[in-house]
Amino acid sequence: MNDAAPNAAPQTFYLKDYKPFGYEVESVKLTFQLSPNATKVHSAIRFTPKADAEDNRFFLHGEQLSLISAKIDGSPVTARLVDGGLECDVPRTSFLWEAEVEIDPAANTALEGLYMSNGMYCTQCEAEGFRKITYYPDRPDVMSTFTVRIEGDEPVMLSNGNPTGAGEGWAEWHDPWPKPAYLFALVAGDLVNHPGSFTTKSGKDVELNIWVRPGDEGKCAFGMEALKKSMKWDEDVYGLEYDLDLFNIVAVDDFNMGAMENKGLNIFNSSCVLASPETSTDANFERIEAIIAHEYFHNWTGNRITCRDWFQLCLKEGLTVFRDAQFTADMRSEPVKRIEDVIALRARQFPEDGGPLAHPPRPEEFQEINNFYTATVYEKGAEVIGMLKRLVGDDNYYKALNLYFERHDGQACTIEDWLKVFEDATGRDLSQFKLWYSQAGTPRVKVTEDYADGTYTLTFEQSTPPTPGQPEKAPRVIPMAVGLLSPNGDEVRGTQVLELTEAKQSFTFDGLASKPVPSILREFSAPVILERETTNSERAFLLAHDTDPFNRWEAGNALAKEVRVAMVLDGAAPDAAYLDALEKLVRDDEQDPAFRALVLSPPSQSDIAQTLHERGHTPDPQKIYDAAETFTQTLAQQLETSLPRLYAATTVEGPYVPDADGAGKRALNGRILSLLTRLDGGEQAARQYASADNMTQQYAALAALMKAEKGEAQSKAFFEQWQDDRLVMDKWFALQIACAAPETAAATAKELTQHPLFSMKNPNRFRAVMGALAGNHAGFHHASGAGYQLLAENLIALDSVNPQTTARMCAAFQTWKRYDSKRQAQIQAELERILATSDLSRDTHEMVSRMLSA
Ligand code: PHE
Ligand code: ZN
Repeated sequence: MNDAAPNAAPQTFYLKDYKPFGYEVESVKLTFQLSPNATKVHSAIRFTPKADAEDNRFFLHGEQLSLISAKIDGSPVTARLVDGGLECDVPRTSFLWEAEVEIDPAANTALEGLYMSNGMYCTQCEAEGFRKITYYPDRPDVMSTFTVRIEGDEPVMLSNGNPTGAGEGWAEWHDPWPKPAYLFALVAGDLVNHPGSFTTKSGKDVELNIWVRPGDEGKCAFGMEALKKSMKWDEDVYGLEYDLDLFNIVAVDDFNMGAMENKGLNIFNSSCVLASPETSTDANFERIEAIIAHEYFHNWTGNRITCRDWFQLCLKEGLTVFRDAQFTADMRSEPVKRIEDVIALRARQFPEDGGPLAHPPRPEEFQEINNFYTATVYEKGAEVIGMLKRLVGDDNYYKALNLYFERHDGQACTIEDWLKVFEDATGRDLSQFKLWYSQAGTPRVKVTEDYADGTYTLTFEQSTPPTPGQPEKAPRVIPMAVGLLSPNGDEVRGTQVLELTEAKQSFTFDGLASKPVPSILREFSAPVILERETTNSERAFLLAHDTDPFNRWEAGNALAKEVRVAMVLDGAAPDAAYLDALEKLVRDDEQDPAFRALVLSPPSQSDIAQTLHERGHTPDPQKIYDAAETFTQTLAQQLETSLPRLYAATTVEGPYVPDADGAGKRALNGRILSLLTRLDGGEQAARQYASADNMTQQYAALAALMKAEKGEAQSKAFFEQWQDDRLVMDKWFALQIACAAPETAAATAKELTQHPLFSMKNPNRFRAVMGALAGNHAGFHHASGAGYQLLAENLIALDSVNPQTTARMCAAFQTWKRYDSKRQAQIQAELERILATSDLSRDTHEMVSRMLSA
């Protein structure tokens, strides 16, 4: 709109510039008169100047608002509209500010502020969306109580807190807990609820609801159970109780992220809450359970204690991700959850940390905060907390957390506040540990060993490559969980945590009868890249004998990577010893099926590319693809005679239950089916497709068939069956691209963008197509450059519709410096083309410039 002039130098915000707001906000009263293109928002806000304010400029954020009137203590005032908001002369004593603005939710395709999704009104305010609803000090350290009146003819009209009244055409809500504006929410539409209830440990009854569009009622039961489990778990493990009489969850189809923790009114991307056996896979169920927990846990870590400013985002996100991971580990399998998280960390966070978008978990500058909802802030932020817990021990961890809740309830805090509770609870100095929050980049830890006269020595050398703006790095505190095995496979030293604090450091173990085999970085005790020269036979030994399940998997994973790297670099044949080890494992019914499925899942092609890059090679995507194909084909042949038996033995009979046990078995069964499909022409997969009564098995069969180019009929049938289900259709869109060969991936994606059900307005659908393209490593990076071109074109088209999603998806290009000069030139040209687009959003501009300038 009339904001900044096009292509004006974007403003950068710095952590060091933090200044508190000069006014207390005593209370907020909002009245909404809903109308799709002309919603009126009346605000009545009581401000009191702070006596000790260093700055008493009265500035309220506001964007894309039409100001109708402004009053102070009932008298009209003239506000000066300035860049990003307004200023006004105000009294030096407490006063009532009133403003009336008009907004256009139906035209809001950015999905930030108040917008419409399938005829339903809904809001998204984090991080800085409230300023698109009314003029306000839209910053997380300004907290107030909100009273909301909604006027409109929608059957259901919700806001935060508790309902205080309703009648024909209106509803009123009051939230007694002071909160920052980013936690404000409003939903209105034709909705139905799936009810539930929970009694807290102190005996308070809480009404629970999941609100959905009519037709989706049948997909709420699982989410409701997950919510109750989360509420119970937070009481049991952290002693934290829910604090309102009502907890509402709403599912919306158009949403930029996964879900949002608005106080008492969580809003979810429908893909992250709606579930049924017929339409959701095991992976969907697990993710939904985790996200419901995550948003619920935010009630304490995020809402009751929030962030002082957005630089502190990982204070709430890192901690809440850490908590939801603990929850999932408790509800399901601890080692499986850890392995899944490390796979995801390496797939998403390591490339970020090693590329042009690298930033510390607590960044010190940004142009657009929406660009910092990253794997580093979330997942590395959680890893940092995991390290802290390991260093201080469980008891101290919970002691520190209790102190955190006691000391900071109702406050907007910083990382300093967070670390201080640990220092106070444990007496430990965390100044060096704090580097994890300020230094970007993944540390590399080189390990060497020595054995003489019964004494075994491990020497660690840590270093972190330069990242944008941070050429030099200081050594960090790295908790290194280590165990030692004897050559016959017995554990001779149980897990202990070595604390690395120096650039180079040695640790000795005495009294060992023979040179042990070390199991290093157990449970992945720190987010680092371990570099150690070792043999494949030692890896195979650890895969067979390590007592730490994570490291057993890790040994197999490292072995798989070595084998694949050798295939790519030297054209070697798949290592026979490794194939034997895999065969042994997959046939070993003593082993947990989920674990076997994980070991049987090959490292991703982009993981191989990343590994090659880390070792100084230029990855060739096509060769990586070919090696993956050859390897899988060889493995299938090796297992040929046992596959039918294994398939039968791992098939889960009986009614579908989305629990961890069944999911593990189905994951293994799915892996076996995909191998079998390479040999039997798709016979078994076709049978499974025809008889499946749940999405996990239907999808596994379809994926196996499509990968083998034998799924045309089933793909058509799938479309016919599910075309009215948006979430299942997202799978259908994505799968075609994921299964496409490198040379056809871009063309397949392009064709799908012409499909009548493709839409730029629905982020899930856009991501299904463009995310799948970016995820097809060899297809996206195909030498023709067609993948790059198609993504760039679509990002340019999306930018004017939805800047947030565009900017996030730009990150698909972040690994561009890994590849050869021809590909680099192709990507650079696309990035420059995006940057040259007129009226490019601030979001996308920042992302693309960062990628180009590094
Ligand atoms: N705070 C949300 C979460 O992590 C994520 C989110 C951020 C959602 C910004 C919407 C917008 O749970
Ligand atoms: Zn969160």
